[in-house]
Amino acid sequence: MNKKFNELQEKIALSKLGGGEARIESQHKKGKLTARERINILMDEGSFEEIGMFVTHRATEFGMEREKYLGDGVITGYGTINGRPVYVFAQDFTVFGGSLSESHAEKICRIMDLAMKNGAPVIGLNDSGGARIQEGVVSLGGYADIFYRNTIASGVIPQISAIMGPCAGGAVYSPAITDFILMVENTSYMFVTGPNVVKTVTHEEVTSEELGGASTHSSKSGVAHFSCANGPECLSYIKQLLSYVPQNCEEDPPALPYEGGDEKRMALNTLIPENPNQPYDMRDVINEVVDADSFFEVHKNYAENILVGFARLAGKSIGIVANQPAFLAGVLDIKSSLKAARFVRFCDSFNIPLLVFEDVPGFLPGTDQEWNGIISNGAKLLYAFCEATVPRVTVITRKAYGGAYDVMNSKHIGADMNYAWPTAEIAVMGARGAAEIIFKKEITEAKNPAEKLKEKEMEYVEHFANPYRAAERGYVDEVILPEDTRIKLIKAFSMLKNKVDKLPRKKHGNIPL
Ligand code: HXC
Repeated sequence: MNKKFNELQEKIALSKLGGGEARIESQHKKGKLTARERINILMDEGSFEEIGMFVTHRATEFGMEREKYLGDGVITGYGTINGRPVYVFAQDFTVFGGSLSESHAEKICRIMDLAMKNGAPVIGLNDSGGARIQEGVVSLGGYADIFYRNTIASGVIPQISAIMGPCAGGAVYSPAITDFILMVENTSYMFVTGPNVVKTVTHEEVTSEELGGASTHSSKSGVAHFSCANGPECLSYIKQLLSYVPQNCEEDPPALPYEGGDEKRMALNTLIPENPNQPYDMRDVINEVVDADSFFEVHKNYAENILVGFARLAGKSIGIVANQPAFLAGVLDIKSSLKAARFVRFCDSFNIPLLVFEDVPGFLPGTDQEWNGIISNGAKLLYAFCEATVPRVTVITRKAYGGAYDVMNSKHIGADMNYAWPTAEIAVMGARGAAEIIFKKEITEAKNPAEKLKEKEMEYVEHFANPYRAAERGYVDEVILPEDTRIKLIKAFSMLKNKVDKLPRKKHGNIPL
């Protein structure tokens, strides 16, 4: 009997060794953790249960029948993170470069199916040379099986992709369908075609890092939501991210216990500069309003004219979308609309209430924006807010101009509660521009046109650059002192906690993609 037990122990040890000591050492030399080390850091101690430890590939060509590794380059299983169940796969670069074979794909699909049936997040730790070249089309089929599951699971369970090594070719499309992508600086990259192909086709010389590294994707393309300094930081971001989201679309997000105290925030009274054209950092507003140190920013370095992220208010998870006057005056453009729209849709899918801080001078004018489709891209944000049925609250801190007023979670498109600070200016456009248009004749015919313009500008300010016209109509529910913002929001979200709002029956809407 003992012999059989020993055989099992040997097989387990062999599987745990992956591609062998030399390749593990080579992985470490590159500054990368192994798949098993990553899982150990990510999961609660002792919670991980592996599935499919003895799976091997079925390829027979190119001498593959003689080279088999137990587990076939991916560790799959389930366990807990901070006590909550999750399903995980971690590609093992020490086995055929973590490349995806038919069997490797089946293992990933198996845990995705379990995650769907049991309503828990899937976390993928990607580190792979792409399709297993020796296998051909069955490997491509394996990818497609995963893409299909990613899509069906979208909006049902949270899906998180960490890119911790190479991720090239069609392999990038599984992470792209998931909800969040995290990348590790200097050791990970994502691209559809690598530098060599780029050079052949477009004659551009570019390194892997420039083409598809963490900094590129977290700031230029927006493909990655988080750029992490190293593997352990990436894994700790995943844990933090999970702490704000529910297990699945049928559940509410987790809440921390909260003991009320003095909710006044006097510092908010002095954040808005006297000069309405002077920038300030909307992060200061957010950090004053939400629970201490709870703002967890998503897409921090991309489209910085809008801020999105999770936070807690009185212990409860919320999603924040906020114009950022400190960058491009907080204007809405193509990238910021896309960034915010995707975040709004994630929050709405997973029952996370939305809080909007608004200080927006309008949409960015210009040929670049028009030719690249600000119309249909801006409409995505509008559409995302319109269809969101979670509790939605807006605070207008300063400018709410033009179409951007409508788009940024206005009452008209379904916001539940709208507040404005006394510094709010809710108008079709800025006072100067408005005066130039509607008093054009008077100004040009005046003895002193500059003086006349100033006079008319002040007239417009007097009439519209305030929150009271909107409050008279009920578009703004209450004009509040900044210091009371936190308590007003705590009460508003508490009042809205049982909100039920249903969209008409349909197969799905047709967001202007
Ligand atoms: C099989 C692979 C492999 C692959 C790497 N290996 N990629 N085996 N299929 N796709 C193996 C290597 O033979 C090597 O084996 C080990 O993994 C480590 O690879 P190295 O090249 O030594 O490592 P490194 O120098 O770090 O380079 C990593 C790499 C490079 C950049 C990923 O290996 C590479 O370019 N691989 C091919 C990438 C690629 O073209 N993939 C197909 C993309 S198309 P030994 O035995 O020496 O340890 C695709 C289509 C998907 O993915 C379509 C879905 C729709």
